[in-house]
Amino acid sequence: MSANRFFQKTDDIALLKRDRTAWLKGGTAECMMPPHKPLGKASRIILLGPPGVGKGTQADLLCERLGTCHLSTGDVFRAAKCLDEKELSPAMHNAIDHMKRGELVSDETVLNIVGERLRCLKCSGGFLLDGFPRTVAQAKALEQLLESNGLKLTAVFNYVMPIEKIVARVSGRRICSECKAVYHMATRPPKFSDLCDLCGGKLFQREDDRPEAVKMRMESYQNDTKPLTDFYQQRGLLFNISAEGSPDEVFQRTRLTALTR
Ligand code: AP5
Repeated sequence: MSANRFFQKTDDIALLKRDRTAWLKGGTAECMMPPHKPLGKASRIILLGPPGVGKGTQADLLCERLGTCHLSTGDVFRAAKCLDEKELSPAMHNAIDHMKRGELVSDETVLNIVGERLRCLKCSGGFLLDGFPRTVAQAKALEQLLESNGLKLTAVFNYVMPIEKIVARVSGRRICSECKAVYHMATRPPKFSDLCDLCGGKLFQREDDRPEAVKMRMESYQNDTKPLTDFYQQRGLLFNISAEGSPDEVFQRTRLTALTR
C-alpha cells in the first residue's frame, strides 16, 4: 500500500471517533456502528515509543484521518479497573496491580486479552495499535496472529524524544473520568481547571503517572520495548519520528515521514 493512501481523508468522516465497545469490553461485546469497508483498504498501524511520548495523542489525530479504531491495551486495563471487583478475573486483578506499579503485565495475560479481541484486528476499518506489542514475544505472537488471518501491517511509527522532556509531559497529564480525553496542564489545558471541555467530566491524574511508577515504566521500556524497533526495522516497517513540538507538528511530521519514504 502506498504511504499516500494512509493520509487520504476517510469517506465515512461522520464516524471520526470510533466506538470501541468491542475492544474495551472484549468477549461478545459489539460496537454500535462498525465500519463497512472492503477489507483490503484498511490501514493497520502500530505506534511505538516510550511512556508519555504522545502516542495516545497522535492516535486520536491519526484515527480521525484514517478512520481506523484506536486499540490501546492500557485502555483495556484502565476500563477493567472501573468494574466491580467481583467482575474481575484473577488474571485481570493481577494485571491491574502490575499496571499501578508501572510494571509490564505478563505476556500471557496480554496475549489472552488481545486474542479475545481478534475481531477488532480483523475489522474492515483497520486498526491503530497503541501499547501492544510491547515485548518481542508479543510482537512474534501478533505477527503469527495476523499472518494466520491473512492480514498485513501497513507501518510502525516509532516516536522518539529525550527522557527529561517526556517526564514533563507525563507529570502534567490529566484524563477525563467520563470520555477519557487527554489534557496537559501546561500545553493542552482544559478551559475550566479540572473539567473536560468535551463532556464536563472531572479530570484526574493516572496512578501510574506518579514519579516512582514513571521510573519503573521507563525501565520496562528500555529493557523490553525498545528492542522492538530492531524487530520492525528488519521487516522494513519502521518509521522513526521526532515527537518534539506541538501535537499538530508531530502529526504533520508523521504524515511527511510516511509520504517521503
Ligand atoms: P499504556 O496505557 O500503553 O501507557 P504508556 O505506553 O505508558 O503510554 P502513555 O499512555 O503513558 O503515554 P502516551 O505515549 O500515549 O502519551 P499521551 O498521548 O497520553 O500502558 C499503561 C500500562 O499498562 C503499562 O505500564 C503496563 O503496566 C500495562 N500494559 C499496557 N499494554 C501492555 C502490554 N502490551 N504488555 C504489558 N503491559 C502492558 O501524552 C502524554 C501527555 O503529554 C498528555 O498530557 C498529552 O496531552 C501531552 N502531549 C502529548 N503530545 C504532546 C505534544 N506534542 N506537545 C506537548 N504535550 C503533548
